[in-house]
Amino acid sequence: MAVSCSDRLRRKFRAARNVVVCTGAGMSAESGVPTYRGSEGIWKKFRPEQLASFDAFLSSPDLVWEWYRHRREIISSIEPNAGHIALAEMERSIEHVVIVTQNIDNLHRRAGSTRIHELHGNIERNYCIECGEFVTAQDVASSSAVPRCRHCGGLIRPDVVWFGEQLPEAAWTGAIEAVSTAEILLSVGTSGVVYPAASIPDIARRAGAYTVEINIEPTELSGSFNEVIRGTAGEALPMLLQVRTHSDQEK
Ligand code: OAD
Repeated sequence: MAVSCSDRLRRKFRAARNVVVCTGAGMSAESGVPTYRGSEGIWKKFRPEQLASFDAFLSSPDLVWEWYRHRREIISSIEPNAGHIALAEMERSIEHVVIVTQNIDNLHRRAGSTRIHELHGNIERNYCIECGEFVTAQDVASSSAVPRCRHCGGLIRPDVVWFGEQLPEAAWTGAIEAVSTAEILLSVGTSGVVYPAASIPDIARRAGAYTVEINIEPTELSGSFNEVIRGTAGEALPMLLQVRTHSDQEK
């Protein structure tokens, strides 16, 4: 059965000027990026503290580097899906579309979205743990051992948020500012268990937004949304784009 939404959401979506879209790993699942907690999820195969913590990096830098290099390779070989593309197209028909993503895969930018707050960093960026110098993915792509900073010799790490680390302040502040004026908040493909990202739908709802979950399965947060769309990101987001563009054509 084709995925659909309520008449209430249709009306709201046709009129909306400020839409915030919070995305998680399920957003990129149809592109071929594994999620974290599904039956085939990354954290079913590896323990996060072995690969995604600063302590792990200091004790086994080459292992952690190699794992991120492998993930970077997967991501560079795949493409944004219909959901990413629908979100990028929404920017043309809605005044403010802001994406707040937990994903590090850069697929929103590659699809053409321009207002993006990356709460957990971006796998294509790297920086020196000693002097903070940024290094592009191209500069380090061929390295299978962890590279060293050309200025100070420090270890280069991926610019992603590891367990126990703070979110980048600018991304978090930007996200909170965006949700404070959002009329609609779409939460797409996240299990809603990692905080503070998981608190965003509730912050948006309390600020007056109509909140919608798009997910293939119920989550811990499903009961707190105004509406739930059961379907994939690649089905539901093009459906919402169509709701909007059809109404533009009728004007
Ligand atoms: P999870 O793996 O926890 O959850 C993915 C969600 O996507 C699940 O609720 C799935 O049901 C849903 N899903 C799967 N395929 C989908 C599809 N095609 N369309 C829509 N929904 C789909 O991933 P996140 O919630 O993003 O953090 O995980 C949050 C954080 O935990 C990640 O950013 C990462 C991880 O540890 C860090 O690395 C800091």
